[in-house]
Amino acid sequence: MYNFLQRLSAITSFAMSTLMVMAILISVTTPLIPSSPTHSLTLRGVQTTTGRRVDTLDKKSRSAEYAQLTFDVDADLTSMFNWNTKLLFAYITADYRAPGFETNRVVVWDRIVRNRRQAKLRLRKHQNKYLLRNYALTFEGVEAANLTLHINPVPYLGLMYDRSATSIPLSLPRAAGSAGQAGR
Ligand SMILES: *[C@@H]1O[C@H](CO)[C@@H](O)[C@H](O)[C@H]1NC(C)=O
Repeated sequence: MYNFLQRLSAITSFAMSTLMVMAILISVTTPLIPSSPTHSLTLRGVQTTTGRRVDTLDKKSRSAEYAQLTFDVDADLTSMFNWNTKLLFAYITADYRAPGFETNRVVVWDRIVRNRRQAKLRLRKHQNKYLLRNYALTFEGVEAANLTLHINPVPYLGLMYDRSATSIPLSLPRAAGSAGQAGR
């Protein structure tokens, strides 16, 4: 009949298949677990200034128009934590159309929410964490801009997916006295 190794091999392969099926089921069903997060984003003001900023991603630190946003965030993401949630990645993007570039997305703020205790966000008169400037170094011709809050649950097992975003219109004015002079 069967020897010990054959039995072990059969049991192991059965266990592996079972595990794989479970893993697939968990990854597929996790996004379907109901949750009822609330979130709102309010823009209080946008101030555009021209100048040079210390930018770790751009050592040339050219003179450009920078927008400073002041915003409020209210969110209760507690219900998004389930047994397969490692953390939530919350971030705000500015999306806009600009001459020559149809799609532009700049991340202006982010936060890692590690547990239920951190899941209630209440930010007042918050300012962007990351510099907001256009690729062309000026906001001339920028249109259809939106400010969007994204919530990205990171599961222990399975794929990341973007969820429950709230979006508000944003206008990016030119800096005072900069009319007519395109970015340099
Ligand atoms: C901003 O939102 C409006 C309304 O939902 C939409 O028409 C526009 O295309 C959005 N802009 C961008 C750049 O996605």
